[in-house]
Amino acid sequence: TDYSIDIDPSATGPRISDQMYGIFMEDINHAADGGLYAELVQNRSFEYSTADNENYTSMTAWEEISTGKANVQAEVVNDDGRLNERNRNYLRVVLPADGGEYGVANSGYSTGITVTEGEEYDFSVWAKSPGRAAPLTVRLHDAQGDPLAEPLALEVQGDWARYTGTLTATGSSTTGRLSVTGSGGGVLGLDMVSLFPRETFKGRENGLRTDIAEKIAALDPGFVRFPGGCLVNTGSHEAYEAPDWPRERSFQWKDTVGPVEERATNHNFWGYNQSYGLGYYEYFQFADDLGAMPLPVVPALVTGCGENRATDDPELLRRHIQDTLDLIEFANGPADSEWGGVRAEMGHPEPFGLTHVQVGNEENLPEEFFERFLRFRDAIEAEYPDITVVGNSGPASGGSVFERAWELNREHGVAMVDEHYYNSPAWFLANNERYDSYDREGPDVYLGEFASQGNQFSNALAEAAYMTGLERNADVVKMVSYAPLLAAEWNTQWTPDMIWFDNSTSWGSANYEVQRLFSTNTGDRVVPSTASGTPGVGGPITGAVGLSTWNTSAEYDDVRVTSADGEALLTDDFSSGADQWTHITGAGNWTVENGAYVQTETSGENTMVTAGDPGWTDYDLEVTATKREG
Ligand code: AHR
Repeated sequence: TDYSIDIDPSATGPRISDQMYGIFMEDINHAADGGLYAELVQNRSFEYSTADNENYTSMTAWEEISTGKANVQAEVVNDDGRLNERNRNYLRVVLPADGGEYGVANSGYSTGITVTEGEEYDFSVWAKSPGRAAPLTVRLHDAQGDPLAEPLALEVQGDWARYTGTLTATGSSTTGRLSVTGSGGGVLGLDMVSLFPRETFKGRENGLRTDIAEKIAALDPGFVRFPGGCLVNTGSHEAYEAPDWPRERSFQWKDTVGPVEERATNHNFWGYNQSYGLGYYEYFQFADDLGAMPLPVVPALVTGCGENRATDDPELLRRHIQDTLDLIEFANGPADSEWGGVRAEMGHPEPFGLTHVQVGNEENLPEEFFERFLRFRDAIEAEYPDITVVGNSGPASGGSVFERAWELNREHGVAMVDEHYYNSPAWFLANNERYDSYDREGPDVYLGEFASQGNQFSNALAEAAYMTGLERNADVVKMVSYAPLLAAEWNTQWTPDMIWFDNSTSWGSANYEVQRLFSTNTGDRVVPSTASGTPGVGGPITGAVGLSTWNTSAEYDDVRVTSADGEALLTDDFSSGADQWTHITGAGNWTVENGAYVQTETSGENTMVTAGDPGWTDYDLEVTATKREG
C-alpha cells in the first residue's frame, strides 16, 4: 500500500545487450541423444560398450528377431570388413535360406520409439551383402509386434552402401520398434541403422526434434553456448587413435563433423554414449537458425568437475591450440579454406560468423589452467584479433580457487569471465546486489550457469528477483544462461533443469517461464530507480517457516540439523533422493496489519502462534554431514 518506485526517465543506466540472455546446451540428462537430436534409433552403430557403462553391451536397445525355424545368428563384430576406421563395430547377420526372416529390432530410448499416425519417418542404413542380392525388410511396429506402417522393401547387394526409404505411420504408439530383417541365405552386414521423423526443426537433415527446439526458440536466445560444461573439460585429451583410442575423452570438435557415419562415438562424462550426431556443424546451424551468437567451449588440457589433472604434453597442447584455430576457420573461413571447405561440404558455404570462443570450463587448478589459457589466447589473438576469448572463474562452488581465478583473470586482462553457481532460493534473494560492487574496469562477466535448486515456482521467483540485479548491472554482466537446459525425464543426472521431455512431449518448468519472460522482454537500457516502503505490507503470507535440505552433489550423506539445545530438527539420509522439509514455526495464514502479523486462520499443524505473534524463534543451528565414500 505505502510503496512507490521513483524513476527518472532522463537518467541513463547501462545498456542491455540483445545477447544478454542465451542458452547453455550440454549433452547432460540425454539432452542431445534421445532428446534434442531427432534420431529415434538408440545405439545405431552398435558402438555401445560395457567398458563405457556396465549396463551397456554392443546390442543395447537391440533384440534379435526371426520368423524362421533357426536361431538368429546376429553378432556385433569389429573386423577388417568394418564400415570405416571410426565406426568400427557392425552387425553381421547370417540368413538361413529357410523362407524365414532374420534380423534385429531397435527399441529406441526409454519405453520405445514414439510413432504418430500420419507422420512420415526417414529410414536409412549402411548395409552390405557380398555375393548375392539380399531382400531387406524394414518395419515399424509396437512392442507387441502390431504393425505401425506398411513395411519397406529394399534390396542389398555388394559392399557397403547406404539404403534409404520412407515409412508412413498408419498407427500411433509410444512403444514403437524398428525392425530390419533379411532372408534367403547369405550374410548381411548392417551399420548406422537410422530413423528420423520427416519433420525436424527448420526441416534440417540430421536435424532436431521440433517440440524441444521450438521451446528453445521461444526463448529467443541471444547466444548458444555449447557443448559443455563438464562434457568438455573432463576425460582424456589424447588424439583419436584407432583401434585402441581412449574412449571417455574430452569433447573434441573434429570428432563431431563430417558424414555422421564417419564420426567417432564417445562415452560421456554423464555416463552414457554420445553418437556425436549432434555435432559442431549442427550446433552452429542451430545457433544460426535461432539468430543467436554461437559460443563454443574448447578443452584447455586441465580437467575440472571433480577431476584435477593438468596434462603436461607440449605436443598435445600444440595440437589442441591448432584445433581451436581450425575451429575458427571451420566457422568463419572461406569455402575454399581447408576447414571452411568441410563446413561448405556439409551444406553451409556461408560463414557462421563466430565472434567468441570459450577456453576451458570450471578448472580446479587455476595456475595450471592460466598457463595454458594464455597460450590459447595468444595464438587466437595472433591469427584472429577480432575473436573474444572467454575464460572462467573455476568451480561452481566458488571458494579459494574462484578467488585466485578471478585474480588471474584481472591480472591478465581477460575480456570475459564465465561464472557458475547453483544455490538455494534464499541465496539468490540475498545476493541481488552481487554485481553492484564488481569492478567496472575489470573483465566482463558471463553468468554461464546458474539455477536456484529446484523447479518450483518459488525457485523461479527467486531467480526472477535475482535477474533484476543482473540486468541492473548489465554494464558488467553481459551474458546470462540458466543451466542445465534440458532433461530427459527417464534419465536425469542433474536437477533442476529448464525444459523437460519424454519421448513424446516436452514441457517448460516455472524456471523456463522466467527465462522466457526476461529473454523475450529485454530492454535497451536500465533506467535507474529508487524504491520506498516495504513491499508485501498488507499482503497475505501463507505457509510455514522451516528448514529444508537439498543435496545436489550427492556428495554428502546423513545430514543433521540440530538446534543449539540439542533438538533434532532435521535428519536426512537422502535415501529417497528427495529433499526434506521440517516445520519449525508451524503453518498458518497471515496478514500484516499496521506492521504487525495477524493470523487469520490456523491449520492443524500450527501449534505455536497467536494472533499478532507468529512465534518466530531464533535458532542457533548446527549442521553436520558425512562425506560419501568415493
Ligand atoms: O550444468 C551442469 C554442470 O554444472 C556443468 O557441466 C558444469 O559446468 C557445472 O559444474
